Amino acid sequence: MKILGVETSCDETGVAVYDTTKKLLCSHALFSQIKLHERYGGVVPEIASRSQLEKMSVVTQEALQGAGLQLADIDAVAVTSGPGLVGSLLVGMCFSKGIAWAGNKKLIGVNHHEGHLFSVFLGKNGEMKDDITFPFIALSASGGHTALYLVLDFGRYDLIAQTQDDAAGEAFDKIAKILGLGYPGGALIEQYARNIDFRDDCRYPRTKSTQEHIMFSFSGLKTAVLYDLVKKGAYNLATGPIVENISEDLRSQVSSSLLVSVGDIFSANLAHAFKKHPQATGCAFVGGVACNQYLRQRLLDVCNKREKKFWVAQPSFCTDNGAMIAFVGGYKAEQGFFSNIDLDVQRF
Ligand code: KG4
Ligand code: ZN
Repeated sequence: MKILGVETSCDETGVAVYDTTKKLLCSHALFSQIKLHERYGGVVPEIASRSQLEKMSVVTQEALQGAGLQLADIDAVAVTSGPGLVGSLLVGMCFSKGIAWAGNKKLIGVNHHEGHLFSVFLGKNGEMKDDITFPFIALSASGGHTALYLVLDFGRYDLIAQTQDDAAGEAFDKIAKILGLGYPGGALIEQYARNIDFRDDCRYPRTKSTQEHIMFSFSGLKTAVLYDLVKKGAYNLATGPIVENISEDLRSQVSSSLLVSVGDIFSANLAHAFKKHPQATGCAFVGGVACNQYLRQRLLDVCNKREKKFWVAQPSFCTDNGAMIAFVGGYKAEQGFFSNIDLDVQRF
């Protein structure tokens, strides 16, 4: 079966074609709105949905062309049904329903988190990776979510822990905005941290989990950074950043300490999860934050120490994309899970 995957949950329009018979990603096309939101230091929902509407058809045509296919060759349309920004989700949903209805194709609603979880199965050239063994632990971290799952099989996974407040990527983006680094912040925070070899000068507090109660929380960490900047004369609680007092050294120090804190939190929680689920064969690191080389190394160390395997999604499939949705749509189709035409979007 040939599956068209449509992802529009936030600020990326992603469309891809996955062939379940060949177990191969035939093509994937993406339009990223980063440039549109850059000046605001974060995603503006109204701008996001308008841009989705503008790009939806163009990106779909690009994906079909890349696969050398016509719409008529597609058997089923898999679409992100949530969670995400309602306006953005609705664009992909209405578009996909339209294609499915008009072309008498099957429709498959895909949960965005599930897309990220299984993105790790997509190899460099679009082939399905065959070295990933169930059950495994997945750490999914992006701008909208941070969670640990025990992944049992295709489409079967249990939530182990999730953030109580902000996502890790969100913490990077918000601190990067205060430091005036730019948007999105994750990669820039990493760059500044690398300048001083990932030193932990500021020693921000880490949330503490136990094996019984594993949890993520980044809002306290964000506040700790903010008050540290106030103390250092770089931020005014009433008026915001004091630009002239934000030196390159300060940027590096804060970025590095923030990243090391997140690295410690991730490592500790993964270690707890392995203890709690000793049957897990390894860890898969997915989501936009999985682009981070420093965090990859920290998690790899945790795995090596316990003789567990470590897999990470391809960089182009870490951030939001249509390929992961097409892939999930593929196994759902094989399992016979289809959606009705009254499928709706879910914000959470
Ligand atoms: O998966 P994604 O595209 O969107 C959501 O589903 O949220 O992830 C975007 C997030 C942003 O917060 C961005 O700062 C973060 O991924 N990110 C990174 C890196 N590259 C992107 N975080 C840390 N290090 C990176 N190199
Ligand atoms: Zn995402």
